[in-house]
Amino acid sequence: MQNFNYYNPTEIVFGKNRLNELDKLIPENAKVLVLFGGGSVKRFGTLDKVKSSLGEREVIEFGGIEPNPQFDTLMKAVEIVRSEKIDFLLAVGGGSVMDGTKFISLAAYVESDPQQLLMAGFDAAPAIKAIPLGCVVTLPATGSEMNTFGVITYQHQKYPFNSPLVFPKFSFLDPELTLTLPPEQVANGIADAFIHVIEQYLTKPENAKIQDRFSEGILKTLIEDGPVTYHDKTNIEARKNFMWSATSALNGLIGVGVTQDWSTHMIGHEMTAMFDIAHGRTLAIILPSLLRKRQTHKQAKLLQFAERVWDINQGSDEEKIVAAIDKTETFFNALGIVTKLSHYGIDESGIDSLISNMEKMGLTHISETGDLTLDIVRKILVSAI
Ligand code: NZQ
Ligand code: ZN
Repeated sequence: MQNFNYYNPTEIVFGKNRLNELDKLIPENAKVLVLFGGGSVKRFGTLDKVKSSLGEREVIEFGGIEPNPQFDTLMKAVEIVRSEKIDFLLAVGGGSVMDGTKFISLAAYVESDPQQLLMAGFDAAPAIKAIPLGCVVTLPATGSEMNTFGVITYQHQKYPFNSPLVFPKFSFLDPELTLTLPPEQVANGIADAFIHVIEQYLTKPENAKIQDRFSEGILKTLIEDGPVTYHDKTNIEARKNFMWSATSALNGLIGVGVTQDWSTHMIGHEMTAMFDIAHGRTLAIILPSLLRKRQTHKQAKLLQFAERVWDINQGSDEEKIVAAIDKTETFFNALGIVTKLSHYGIDESGIDSLISNMEKMGLTHISETGDLTLDIVRKILVSAI
């Protein structure tokens, strides 16, 4: 295991009917901007519940943050934050609203070129101050509610950013607020959380037993309770486990002291930017093909994944690995996620455009070993047609 620091100050408020506790978590005299997406929180009553919990505080609303949040939309919120002298941001929504709110929180203090916040990749964004923020999660998927990351669309490209200043002060995880999700969004969330674990777990053995076993526990929980949540709205216990799995998959804990490989996400973000396919779905298309092409690189961990996550104990090592990758793909398919590019109308010419876009974005040597070059990415994508 490698050296590491671990710090995560986000307070999690988990369980049903707890929104009235917002009142004690937000400073009494704060002027609050409540941010949300295209209207689901209005339609289903979550926004009203949030507002009634904020008591006498002055509250302004900003709606219309789109999936894959757009820089220009977020800059409109930044203007409001400045002109209204907002001192607390409350995100009510899924990953897009939470990420957008994190960006607004940083951009409010950046005088010129706020797009520079997006140019540091996984390094800390050049920011010195942020407006404090909290989250009410309506879609379990990204883990944004307990991490320092965000992904913003700027000039038709998706840019990840990262800053310790945007750790949410708190996040409310109430599974009942997710009951209005259409099944395909539940499926996207399961795939996203599953692949967050994979990107931190499936690299090489480093004798990081806690991280490995936490990862395997999250994957097994998603395999067990993901499909139940997808099919059965009445099973709140399964939904609770799914929700906490999604947060635990990307709150930093399983990624400490181990090598990580975010290749599937790097390729997936390009696919969303170019073809507007939902984030979780892009990952489910790429991962099975990527694992098949990178079997030798990842052999030891793939075998551990086969034996400990999928309980495959028969056959040669090679057979176990092949079976584990097949089972992973079938798991996504059973959630109604098709995993071939042709299902989304993408052929070789689409792959050409995607590869040249990755080149433009400097994504020419990705993976844990930096040797996943664009010709290999092309082979991965061609085998996913
Ligand atoms: O906009 P509204 O009307 O609210 O509808 C949303 C949206 O259309 C709807 N929705 C959310 N909660 C609902 C609901 N509909 C009914 N009932 C509810 N309770 O769901 C749709 C999708 O929402 P979105 O927030 O876009 O989905 P998700 O949570 O999957 O977030 C995706 C974004 O997160 C980024 C992705 O790149 C993408 O931009 N990611 C952020 C990460 C992070 N911060 O750590 C990591 C991830 O890997 C990911 O890249
Ligand atoms: Zn993701």
